[in-house]
Amino acid sequence: MVVIFVPKEPAPGETRVAAIPETVKGMLKLGQQVQIERGAGVPAGFQDSDFQAAGATLVDAAAIASADIVLAVNAPPPDRVKAMKAGAILICSLTPTSRLDTVVAARDAKVTSMALELMPRITRAQKMDILSSQATCSGYQAVLLAAVHLPKMFPLMMTAAGTLTPARVLILGVGVAGLQAISTAKKLGAVVEANDIRPACREQVESLGGKFVDTGTPPNAETKGGYATEVQAEFLKKQREILTNHIAQADVLITTAQVPGKKAPVLVTAEMRKAMKPGSVIVDMAAATGGNVEGTVAGQVTDLDGVTVIGDTNLASRKANDASRMFARNILAMFPEFMGKDGKLNINLEQEIQTAVIVTHDGKVRHEPTAAALAAKGA
Ligand code: NAI
Repeated sequence: MVVIFVPKEPAPGETRVAAIPETVKGMLKLGQQVQIERGAGVPAGFQDSDFQAAGATLVDAAAIASADIVLAVNAPPPDRVKAMKAGAILICSLTPTSRLDTVVAARDAKVTSMALELMPRITRAQKMDILSSQATCSGYQAVLLAAVHLPKMFPLMMTAAGTLTPARVLILGVGVAGLQAISTAKKLGAVVEANDIRPACREQVESLGGKFVDTGTPPNAETKGGYATEVQAEFLKKQREILTNHIAQADVLITTAQVPGKKAPVLVTAEMRKAMKPGSVIVDMAAATGGNVEGTVAGQVTDLDGVTVIGDTNLASRKANDASRMFARNILAMFPEFMGKDGKLNINLEQEIQTAVIVTHDGKVRHEPTAAALAAKGA
């Protein structure tokens, strides 16, 4: 029988959990034993008693040492991974190139680590895609945060005290988070505009009732997997010129533009930001990767020249209950990829999804960008 352990997330401000009572039942059906660290689900609204009722056993943090599989939201600290037994599997959002310490611990402990965010964006893997599920929560939360900070209401209102104009919301970057932000802002009654460099986005924006701001499409704007590529400085300059007016008119600016593996593009310079009306709100969802807006401080809310700039780097965690539900379901959907019907672990490095997500296995680092980053550090 395989023993699955779910720790309490140690990172400050992290309120999500990698399993919920529903997925515990799913794992038990596969014939596994599930151990939950006491209190692990409480910040997300899942009580210890809910996990027990689902069939899990409550344990202390030390139980990580005897687990065959560890499920976590974020990369655990290296000392926790060092405590794992050789051959055990760690499944989490590992972000390996920025958590080299944990990768080294996994490599040296001969732990098989799987990075959920490296899941290929193929139809079969959609149900295992944590980037999409968590971006759905972040895009929604970004709009709610903006609405709270904005000294104006979102919808058009005709009242006895006169007419109130609707808020204007501009969204830059229309991936999963951007689309959810459009949909949420529309539901709140705002007038919504959006921009992206991928041509497929126009139709998606319009189908949600937004207006597409066309800044052109650079050559090879999109990879085969649907991701944006890095744009040249000249294109970016032209893009900023077109966006300037739209930004100056917006009450709320939500930026989500990302290029995988690169620093986020700066779409809004300090000058463009200063042209916004006092009291306007920016939510820079790319804050963790350098920000789309000049001046954003990651993890903080700042007042820059009268504009509120929100650089929250863990928006999904503010909707911890639903974010955990989706994260946990994504993980459960992945089990058949590395576990046979007999419940036995089946690591096969030739299998498409395993090849993509496995970062360390049997004492080796298999993810090339991570191996290169380690080699550069001589680790
Ligand atoms: P992301 O988080 O990597 O980037 C967010 C958005 O920023 C993207 O839409 C990107 O085009 C945009 N962007 C990058 N540079 C920009 C610039 N200079 N100006 C304006 N926008 C810029 O993207 P996310 O949300 O992970 O999704 C990207 C795409 O991946 C989806 O729209 C879809 O095509 C594909 N996808 C496929 C899935 C599948 O299973 N088949 C699942 C989810 C996404």
